[in-house]
Amino acid sequence: MPVSMILGTQWGDEGKGKIVDLLSDDADVVVRFQGGPNAGHTLVVDGETTVLHLVPSGILHPKTDCVIGNGVVLNLDGLFQELDELKSKGVNTEGRLWISDRAHLILPGHRALEAHEEQGAGAVGTTLRGIGPAYRDKMARIGVTVGEFLNKEAFLTALARQRVWRERLVPSLPEESIDPDQVEAQMGVYRDRLKPMVRDTGLALVQWAKQDRRILLEGAQGTLLDVDHGTYPFVTSSNASAGGACTGSGIPPRMIDRVLGVTKAYTTRVGLGPFPTELGGEEGEKLRAAGGEFGATTGRPRRCGWLDGLALRHAVRINGLDGLIVTKLDVLSGYETIKIATAYQCDGELLTEFPAGIGALEGAEPVYESFPGWSESLDSMRHWDELPQTARNFVARIKEITDVPIHWVSVGQAREATIPGPSLETKVRVGR
Ligand code: IMP
Repeated sequence: MPVSMILGTQWGDEGKGKIVDLLSDDADVVVRFQGGPNAGHTLVVDGETTVLHLVPSGILHPKTDCVIGNGVVLNLDGLFQELDELKSKGVNTEGRLWISDRAHLILPGHRALEAHEEQGAGAVGTTLRGIGPAYRDKMARIGVTVGEFLNKEAFLTALARQRVWRERLVPSLPEESIDPDQVEAQMGVYRDRLKPMVRDTGLALVQWAKQDRRILLEGAQGTLLDVDHGTYPFVTSSNASAGGACTGSGIPPRMIDRVLGVTKAYTTRVGLGPFPTELGGEEGEKLRAAGGEFGATTGRPRRCGWLDGLALRHAVRINGLDGLIVTKLDVLSGYETIKIATAYQCDGELLTEFPAGIGALEGAEPVYESFPGWSESLDSMRHWDELPQTARNFVARIKEITDVPIHWVSVGQAREATIPGPSLETKVRVGR
């Protein structure tokens, strides 16, 4: 069955959007399975930039169906704003964007709650899109699904049920964010427009896979932000690793043929939490400026540092990666020396596996391998053999450290700035 998956191996922002867009050329269906409008997937096609938050990155390919799966949490105002922007760019989404009836809604109360929670101590540095509260309600069994929203009576009943719980726990939320009639007045306007897009997407996906339609599962965020396998509690509230693709799409594990991971040639992180290879001061700023490292969703400056080999091997293991795509190699041009962490010194101990505890990560001193850099600009290079030997050595070392083939190396934002890696003789395809 031709089903492939693309995941982030770091703290998000690895450049997955561009890679999914490229692979979509070859896919019949692209599926988002977790996260929500906290994601920001940037695509550059013919010099024009499109940033997607909810809509799968395959949407720019006119023949590709796109699915927002049951594992996603979505805000309807954001969704329709995104669809209007796509329409204004001439992208038709009608009859090819499908939304799961089981997906949960981000409600006004969720955003109000998060704004309240993220003030002061205990903050995670979230995107403030209501992601955490929406997933929390889903797990607490007081969430509201897209299916319920389509029926006004069911929606009002679900909101009333949620309100009872909300008032017990958080008595101070603004009335307009929890009163069912006021919420209906804000959100009901989207009902008729949403209806034709909603279906049992899990059923459709399995049927499509059986018909040999090529399906690409598009991860958002990254493995280190995964609620189970990331740097808890400084994580997002969903499973951004491979397991989340099954629960969040309804595609059973044995239908998945291939799992690819995306890593930057260095590391970035937005929000709070440990980051052992972070570069401070001028060094960090230099990398941020070279990579244009500002959040696609919030515009926040991203924290920057060297590639972390322990974290990458953790992601390879958790996701069972079949291949890696290294992005933003071009950003490292001009560095005399480039580094990769291959171990941490922690409390007098040498760690070679990525530890679970925040304490260990905060106290970790990276042990680096250093590589000579290159001065050439890479962004016009299109073949592996054109890359400077030092750049090839660096990528080859990533392959050795992870024991995973490097499928592609990306040297610029444009679709064509993507070089098949040393492990790849033929074009990467979705499915076998
Ligand atoms: P939340 O997902 O808004 O709850 O934020 C939780 C953490 O995940 C914060 O550190 C965010 O900055 C981070 N995060 C969420 N989505 C993304 C993303 O798409 N890229 C990078 N970081 C993200």
